[in-house]
Amino acid sequence: MNDRVMDAINEQIKWELYSAYLYLSMSSWFESIGLKGFANWERIQAMEERDHAMKFYTYVLSRGGRVIFQSIDAPPSEWESPLAAYEFQLSHEKTVTARIENLMNIAIEEKDHASASMLQWFINEQVEEEENAKSIVDQLKLVSGETGKGLLYMLDKDLAARVYHPPVVQE
Ligand code: FEO
Repeated sequence: MNDRVMDAINEQIKWELYSAYLYLSMSSWFESIGLKGFANWERIQAMEERDHAMKFYTYVLSRGGRVIFQSIDAPPSEWESPLAAYEFQLSHEKTVTARIENLMNIAIEEKDHASASMLQWFINEQVEEEENAKSIVDQLKLVSGETGKGLLYMLDKDLAARVYHPPVVQE
């Protein structure tokens, strides 16, 4: 496969695995402050990020390319508040979106249509990723004072209902 596209995907695999690391760290922090629903939501988010990494991994191999793993930084381990954590997540997802768009630009420049087609899934996924984080940020902004505690409890119950859907494996 095209070397420039392959190198850029290798770099992106690191970012997806870092995202998994970051959200598992958030899950662990939410557990530590007794918000098990938030912890569940982030644990599943981490699993989905690993799936994103595997989608790229499988794609590179399917094109006869080589995956070379890079160092992954340690993620933060605590946040000032649930709102601060989700604002961090939204900002991180915006960075990932910009990276995926740059990857798409590289695939187009290199006239690599198969990679562009694969990347379209990630372009669409990023819309959802940002929307999900933004929606929780907006709800957490309503949480303050005594009435806020009830809202936080209800939101925690909502997020506890998230279930993991394994990706459909394409051979
Ligand atoms: Fe893999 Fe959250 O984007």
